Amino acid sequence: MPSSLHTELCDRLGCTYPVVQTAMGWVADTNLTAATCNAGGFGFYAGATAPAGTVESEILAIKAKTDKPFGVNFHMFQPNAEEVIAMVIKHKVRAVSYGRGPDAKTIKRLKDAGVICMPTVGAVKHAVKAVELGADIITIQGGEGGGHTGSVPTSILLPQVLDSVKVPVVAAGGFFDGRGLAAALAFGAVGIAMGTRFLMTTDSPVPRSALDRYLATKDPTAIKVTTAVDGLPQRFVENDEIRRLEKMGGLSKLLLAAQSARNWGKEAGVGPVGMLKLGLKMLQAGDNSFAQMVMAPNLPVMVQRGVVKGDPDHGLLPGGQAASMIGKLESCEDLIARIVSEAETRIRAMSGLVNEAIPGASRVI
Ligand SMILES: Cc1cc2nc3c(=O)[nH]c(=O)nc-3n(C[C@H](O)[C@H](O)[C@H](O)COP(=O)(O)O)c2cc1C
Repeated sequence: MPSSLHTELCDRLGCTYPVVQTAMGWVADTNLTAATCNAGGFGFYAGATAPAGTVESEILAIKAKTDKPFGVNFHMFQPNAEEVIAMVIKHKVRAVSYGRGPDAKTIKRLKDAGVICMPTVGAVKHAVKAVELGADIITIQGGEGGGHTGSVPTSILLPQVLDSVKVPVVAAGGFFDGRGLAAALAFGAVGIAMGTRFLMTTDSPVPRSALDRYLATKDPTAIKVTTAVDGLPQRFVENDEIRRLEKMGGLSKLLLAAQSARNWGKEAGVGPVGMLKLGLKMLQAGDNSFAQMVMAPNLPVMVQRGVVKGDPDHGLLPGGQAASMIGKLESCEDLIARIVSEAETRIRAMSGLVNEAIPGASRVI
């Protein structure tokens, strides 16, 4: 039965409900992506952290688990960006998401192949620029969101961007239930996108030891933004490792970055020359400082210790403030069904309010 919450997003992405699972490095794997799509949502696979040479087999693995359309996330600074783009086009992936990244030529190449370009932005100027470059749909991420994040909250950024662009807008940052979905639709968004809420499901690959730490965090102010990891503002569940990084002096930071670069280079199969080239690419793009370029390798090493190895004390736990509102793990299927049902209840209640306040008025939703 078609959902009563069917929006333009469902038509464009080919999903039943206007609920997107965002890409999360090392977390949005083939299982989570397929589970989201099978539950009627739209999942993005975390292609930005896919090791070189694995992208095609990962896309095929998702196709083996679902016959529904899905998306792939990437960024232009990953060593195998071209591999992701080529595989997305070859396998007719429905959509790509990205942050800072592809130029107009790359976006045109994707669009010409029928791939929907759906960047995530944290500021209104980036939304305007992304549309100029060719974006089909914009996802806004308010500051309460997990991972790299801006400082404007969803309640401000969403109307700002809705007022500034003509393409459909999806709301992300702080969503975890049907009240949020109803609110985003009331603002004029075509759906919601959630990272943290999908990380905290039974379909997530994150080990139980780390999930328990997310579940135990009940204070939203304990999920903090810091620049201590890679120089860019990013939100994490506060733990001993974050406190240690925040206290570190300049020399210790440099030594840590050198050690992380060695570890990351070994894992990603990138030698010193390759790393230098990537660093220069980041600097040339203009929105990274030298310090950020040096610190960039810290992130993969420490985040994997948290969400892949499941060490909540010595690794990092990226997450949004929504984690503090999540009391239990659910499957993607139960989660999406509950969110849709809650949103429908709220929307019906809102329609009733208008009818009571203005006798004879027609329903607004
Ligand atoms: C563990 C984690 C990893 C993330 N990794 C990425 C990533 O690789 N690429 C990306 O574009 N966004 C990444 N994000 C941001 C999410 O895609 C999403 O925009 C954000 O989680 C939305 O806010 P929410 O957590 O409040 O739902 C990550 C977020 C988390 C929590």
